[in-house]
Amino acid sequence: MELVVSNLSKQFKNKLAVSNLTMALQEGVYGLLGANGVGKTTLIQMLCGILSPTAGEIKFNGKNIIDLGEDYRDILGYVPQDFGYFPEFTAQKFMLYIAAVKGLQPRYARKLTHKLLGEVNLLENKDKKIKTYSGGMKRRLGIAQALLNNPKVLILDEPTAGLDPKERAYFRGMISDLSKDKIVIFSTHIVSDVEYIADEIIFMNSGMIELRGSVGELTKTLRGRVWEGYILEKDAAEYGGKYNLVNSHYANEKIYIRFISDNIPSPVFKSVEPTLEDVYINIFSSREIS
Ligand SMILES: Nc1ncnc2c1ncn2[C@@H]1O[C@H](COP(=O)(O)OP(=O)(O)OP(=O)(O)O)[C@@H](O)[C@H]1O
Ligand SMILES: [Mg+2]
Repeated sequence: MELVVSNLSKQFKNKLAVSNLTMALQEGVYGLLGANGVGKTTLIQMLCGILSPTAGEIKFNGKNIIDLGEDYRDILGYVPQDFGYFPEFTAQKFMLYIAAVKGLQPRYARKLTHKLLGEVNLLENKDKKIKTYSGGMKRRLGIAQALLNNPKVLILDEPTAGLDPKERAYFRGMISDLSKDKIVIFSTHIVSDVEYIADEIIFMNSGMIELRGSVGELTKTLRGRVWEGYILEKDAAEYGGKYNLVNSHYANEKIYIRFISDNIPSPVFKSVEPTLEDVYINIFSSREIS
């Protein structure tokens, strides 16, 4: 199974949101990371066939998704960033409605709805109106509806936005469990979401792929360039101006800083193992964000 994106671009009036982007994805979990406005949603909407590209093409197993049409929608599950829920519906009714839209037989739809609401831990609340749900419950319902057609390609746009840490951990477990034999793509700003579950991380910047690789591959690129140590308060501004600061906090009347630099500025600092957050900061703090 392969999803291949070739020279994909999307030009809005005066904004090139996706710029000549090329990538090939096989079975696995992909984390799409990037700051606000780098083009994640635009790329995702094109991958889902709901936004047409200005240039380039997307092929699933060698066939253009536009030509595949309904056949592509049959294997696609999509959880949009702003999911349009039906507040007066109960979760159960909403699932059955979506199942009908997707053309499932009513008996099968009822069975599957029960199974999926169980998997996302909503069975107990299935008869409550969606307007009474918490943000995390709504997200889980969003995932359940996307799974109704047992998709081969599952795309989630910021599925963890607004979730508390416990809900995020639950989400990560859920994605790991259901990712077998699927291409799963999800976007986020939260580094720890992708750090644990993504087989590959795709860093987007200004409509392009800036970096792509496993956590190990990406962090390796910063090895020997991440430093930690104490400085005096009076020197803080100087360090902040000169180096990419990842972290800083007061400690014992001094300031503890973590920063990225090709060379060690002073022997008081010690080299530390890079994390994905360091990679993120290194990309997004050194350039202008559109
Ligand atoms: N319909 C549109 N018309 C004009 N410009 C648009 C449209 N949709 C998106 N854009 C612009 O394209 C760029 C990319 O937007 P997009 O929503 O893809 O970013 P994103 O990475 O998903 O951001 P976020 O993290 O905030 O969701 C932004 O500059 C945005 O303002
Ligand atoms: Mg977005």
